[in-house]
Amino acid sequence: MQSTLTTKSIKGATPIVPLTPDDLKAWLKNAEPAAKRWVEASDFEAKPDTHCLIPGQDGKMAKVLSGIRDPGDPFCLARLTTALPRGSYYISAEWDTPVMERATLGWALGGYRFTRYKRADQELARLVVNDGCDAKRIQDLVEAVFLIRDLINTPAEDMMPEHLAYAVKDLAAEFDAVVSETVGDALIEENYPAIHAVGRASVHEPRLIDLRWGNPDRPKVTLVGKGVCFDTGGLDLKGANNMRLMKKDMGGAAHAIALARLVMSAGLPVCLRLLVPAVDNAVSGSAFRPGDVLATRKGLTVEVDNTDAEGRLILCDALAEGASEAPDLMIDFATLTGAARVALGTDVPAMFCNNDALAENLLRASEEIHDPVWRLPLYAPYKELIESTVADIVNSASRPFGGAITAALFLDAFVPAAIPWAHFDLMAWSIKSRPGHPEGGDAMGLRAVFEYLCNRYDHA
Ligand code: BES
Ligand code: ZN
Ligand code: ZN
Repeated sequence: MQSTLTTKSIKGATPIVPLTPDDLKAWLKNAEPAAKRWVEASDFEAKPDTHCLIPGQDGKMAKVLSGIRDPGDPFCLARLTTALPRGSYYISAEWDTPVMERATLGWALGGYRFTRYKRADQELARLVVNDGCDAKRIQDLVEAVFLIRDLINTPAEDMMPEHLAYAVKDLAAEFDAVVSETVGDALIEENYPAIHAVGRASVHEPRLIDLRWGNPDRPKVTLVGKGVCFDTGGLDLKGANNMRLMKKDMGGAAHAIALARLVMSAGLPVCLRLLVPAVDNAVSGSAFRPGDVLATRKGLTVEVDNTDAEGRLILCDALAEGASEAPDLMIDFATLTGAARVALGTDVPAMFCNNDALAENLLRASEEIHDPVWRLPLYAPYKELIESTVADIVNSASRPFGGAITAALFLDAFVPAAIPWAHFDLMAWSIKSRPGHPEGGDAMGLRAVFEYLCNRYDHA
């Protein structure tokens, strides 16, 4: 159990009473006079993300009032994890189980700290998991999100392609899955030319990591994640500001790995495949160049207009391989474009999908569990922007407008229309701390997709 959660009894724990400003008015009507005076003297108005400690007659803490906006929001109590004094608490509210589980999850996610290189300074408060909540389901989600955060926050020097492979192998060992790897020059022999071209300049060999789990008779679900362990931009070198956060460019891989973990831990009745093309987009004498024409696994030739549009190059080989087995469903995650962040900001992943029913169900799951995702179109007329005069397609559009769409259209060229496919272009990083989301690597859209998979396969 995560250290900020406990399944012990609520005996001796302090109740947390979540209140909207309107709820507070009703609460005050029934409150003891001393508590009422205390709340008023504290100027507590139950604004979201504020709280008020209420002492009992004996001067000990009797309860915590916590201002919220929307109980459905998983992060409505998440600021308390680090704001409350040490000790045990429980949520005292007449909430449905899903709402209670989400708030409990949000609490735990608020307790994340990246401790690989620096010890945590403060002991955190603990929340008792309410009766009726599924502690394992909450714990699985916490572990998945913490895995994403740890993988992304770990600096590139300690999170190179070989380290991503260790992470996948650890996972395989835990859940009895099988992993294979195609590394370095074997990528050429096995026909993954684009992954090789992007990764060949680094002393850390590029690779395709391939995990399989589950009964082959079950519907095949294939997850793909962009694993650019560091994105210098290549010969089209990024400036210092734009390069600073590029240890996070394996954030898509982190999402695919964590989602695979959720699927296996829940034992979803699917046949799972996880593909992680992992490279270090580095600069050296052997780097691929602007103007080069690359071969790809699918057989399409690609003109390299810009070596900084490397994510779509490694993904196109992985997607072509994934598609070759005609899965029931293929989903990829990638920190693919700055343009997606211009369109939707840092917190909302862009989703592209070649199948309307799939898209609608993903969006419904996203709404249901309050994990935002926004659909953008695979607008076919923009394909013109990625036409090349010397090759079948070019990796960076001739005009910058709609950059997330042209990137998604590039990927689309490698996925047969008959395979239901969703592509997530995400930030994978919280640029500033907010409740439940400490600054740093972060999960975005993960819960939405997992909820969708559970709806589709578990309740079938
Ligand atoms: N990893 C970046 C995209 C990125 C940057 C995602 C910042 C999130 C935050 C990607 O490899 C890249 O550099 N894309 C270029 C593409 C362009 C050259 C067509 C971009 O978005 O500018
Ligand atoms: Zn790039
Ligand atoms: Zn990149």
